[in-house]
Amino acid sequence: MKERNHIVITRRIPQAGMDVLEASDARVTVVQTDEEKGLSHQEIVAAIESADVLLCQLTEPIGPEVLSANDRLLGIAQMAVGFDNVDVAAATERGIPVSNTPGVLTDTTADLTWALLLAVARRIPEAHEYMVAGRYALWGPNLLHGYDVSPGGSGRRKVLGIVGYGRIGQAVARRAVGFDMEVLAHDPFNRDGIEADEIATWADLPELLSRSDFVSLHPALTDETHHLIGEEELRAMKPTACLVNVSRGPVIDEEALVRALSEGWIGGAALDVYEDEPAMKPGLAECPNAVLVPHVGSATRDTRGRMASMAATNALAHLERRRAPNCVNPGVYDTEAYRRRVGG
Ligand code: DGY
Repeated sequence: MKERNHIVITRRIPQAGMDVLEASDARVTVVQTDEEKGLSHQEIVAAIESADVLLCQLTEPIGPEVLSANDRLLGIAQMAVGFDNVDVAAATERGIPVSNTPGVLTDTTADLTWALLLAVARRIPEAHEYMVAGRYALWGPNLLHGYDVSPGGSGRRKVLGIVGYGRIGQAVARRAVGFDMEVLAHDPFNRDGIEADEIATWADLPELLSRSDFVSLHPALTDETHHLIGEEELRAMKPTACLVNVSRGPVIDEEALVRALSEGWIGGAALDVYEDEPAMKPGLAECPNAVLVPHVGSATRDTRGRMASMAATNALAHLERRRAPNCVNPGVYDTEAYRRRVGG
């Protein structure tokens, strides 16, 4: 058996990813096969200790202590586009390449954003509850009024504010054209120096919040975007506006959001992600104007399959000491720490 040939997968991945690995000569271990169970800190450390490459999920915090558990680890392949659970600076310092799965989930996540936006605007979960509770006795002119997304009865084009104008934010904007919306965009990083495109007009955050009928959040989670939307920002929104978050939970101060929803500072919210995921802050589940789903932004058969095969391909590249196709810290390959690690 080859030396350093072991890929450890923290939790069972879709078969498309397993197929890629099974076609290789890597030895593969899956730590957790129970879909409802995560790994404890000790289990993550043990997984790293026995791995030559770790294929992991966004549910596993991979900090300096975990990274120090194995000085022969060849790489970390995360099956997600977001990688805020991995301390990339600490990995780079130790010469460990980290990879992710960008691009393949853009459309799927943008579609869920729209599903949530429409659901909160038109009160779909409340309407569903009403039906299944057997309460529908008579068509009512005042029943379950929501908010227009397209110009609708007011004839006014609605404003969609997109915070975080990367791949997913831009895909959300493209879908807004069909609803004849005005689109404002703001990016906390704006690494590409974008000022506007053919769909969106650039706005600073206060302007975007005060003008938007819908605000959709798509930034990466970093120190700068932690609690980007707190009490001040929520109070700056229109009392009829709806907030959608499919990025990462801690981008919103969720306690402030619960107050905003229950005291009517904003019209509603639709969330795919939570500050203390999987837990929700007290009171959130009781807000009738909150639509809540369990981090399913990329959860379609095709997309999760592609994410898994992409993560597997990245993992094999790490194992074979090749540049991973989707490395998030490519500078690592030029470091002495990487050379020592792969040569050792
Ligand atoms: C990601 O990839 O970062 C999503 O949150 C899960 O698909």
